[in-house]
Parts: sequence; C-alpha cells; structure tokens
Amino acid sequence: MNVIVFASRKGGSGKSTLAAHLAAQIKATKPCLLIDADPQGSLTLWHKLRGTNEPPIKTAVNSVSGILATARRDGMEWVLIDTPPNVSAVVEDAIRNATMVIIPARPGVFDVNAVQETIQTCRTARKPYAVVLNGAPARRDDAESPIVTIAREALGKFRAPVWGGQITNRADLLMALGQGEGVREYYAEGRAAAEIARLWAAIERSVKAIRGTVSASGAMHKQAA
Ligand SMILES: Nc1ncnc2c1ncn2[C@@H]1O[C@H](COP(=O)(O)OP(=O)(O)O)[C@@H](O)[C@H]1O
Ligand SMILES: [Mg+2]
Repeated sequence: MNVIVFASRKGGSGKSTLAAHLAAQIKATKPCLLIDADPQGSLTLWHKLRGTNEPPIKTAVNSVSGILATARRDGMEWVLIDTPPNVSAVVEDAIRNATMVIIPARPGVFDVNAVQETIQTCRTARKPYAVVLNGAPARRDDAESPIVTIAREALGKFRAPVWGGQITNRADLLMALGQGEGVREYYAEGRAAAEIARLWAAIERSVKAIRGTVSASGAMHKQAA
C-alpha cells in the first residue's frame, strides 16, 4: 500500500487542492482511500459536494495509524492524506507512515521559506519527499515564469528535491473542486488536467523507485532543484 502525504506548514499552498485532484485521477483505476487530517475539512467538503462516496474518505484527529491498518486489510493500493498547516502530532504521524511526502509551495519568497520546517520533518523521519510548485504563473513560449525559476533556485539552496513540472494557477482547478470533481472529470482535454496527470505520473514513478522496481535516477524525490 502506498501512502502519499500532502504536508506544508503554510496554509493555502495547495495541499487539499492537489489531494482532491489526484484522488479523482487515481480512483479511475485503483482502490484509493482519502484521509482528511485537517480540522478545517476542505477535502471533506469536496467529498460532500462530490456526493458519490467514491473514493472513500476517513477523518483523522491525532493519528492515522489505525486507519492505515484497516486500509491495508481492505486491500487499498493508494492512500492520500491531507494534513493541517502546522507541525502537529497528526502531521508527524502521517509523515512517519508515508511512502512519500508531497510538499506543495507557491512560487513566492515567503512560501518557499516556509517549506523548510516540513522538509526538516521529512529528513528527520527519513522519508522521501518532493516540493511541487503550485499556483504558478503559466509558462509562456514554452519558458517558465522567472518567479518559478527564482523559487527553484531558492529551494536548491536547501538541497530540496523539486518536481520539474509545475501546477499552474488555473480556474479549472477551482471550478472542478466546487462541483466535487477532479479536473480530469471536469475538463479532461484542458491544460490543468494535463498537469495533474503529469504530476500523478511523476508520483507513481517515484513510488516505483522507492519500492525498488525502477531506477531512481530522474525520479522527482531525487530531482535537485
Ligand atoms: N493551482 C491552483 N490554481 C487555482 N487555484 C488554486 C490552485 N491551488 C490552490 N488553489 C486555490 O487556493 C486556495 C488554497 O488552496 P488549498 O488547497 O486549500 O491549500 P491548503 O490545503 O494548502 O491550505 C483554494 O481556494 C484553492 O482552490
Ligand atoms: Mg487544506
């Protein structure tokens, strides 16, 4: 069973957004469970709007270990855990149980600075992780925005692995969430759906590398900024 944890001390970086869109992406093909460990309940709200109970969702307060034990027994292949913007017991427990941690960050100086604590938690727990630049300005003429390049450089100073792609700031991502959908369900041919699909492929590839079934070279959790 693969456990992907979305963590960052910074609110608004995109933890819940990425968890929801990726969950909708996975559930099409694999048994997947969502865990909402954030009392704010964004993922739970999305799930209510969705109204299908697919994928299933559980709420965690202090720990995720019990839920994960049941999920393993139930034959879940993927578990996505959304966490609150702090470094509380439930976040530490989620990271301890993670196959891989995704740290979303907006490409701004405050945002990039704020990921350091989460990176440190991952390092202490010896967990693979990668920063995902989210809410980025769109690429133009096939070049990324200088803001994104500067964010990559800043993350490079912490020696943090960063996904080579980006999730652009796009209305489709918001519109889909408002209808309880993933962006692929909302508008499969759109650019936002393509970016989420790319991110999912990168996560799958990293998890295979972590499991030792493919080479780790070029995997997102090894990718220097
Ligand atoms: N790539 C994006 N494009 C457009 N809106 C986004 C994007 N990422 C996040 N948002 C919006 O920004 C807000 C904060 O994101 P959210 O996922 O709730 O952050 P977090 O869970 O880290 O606090 C939400 O309204 C969300 O829908
Ligand atoms: Mg959230």
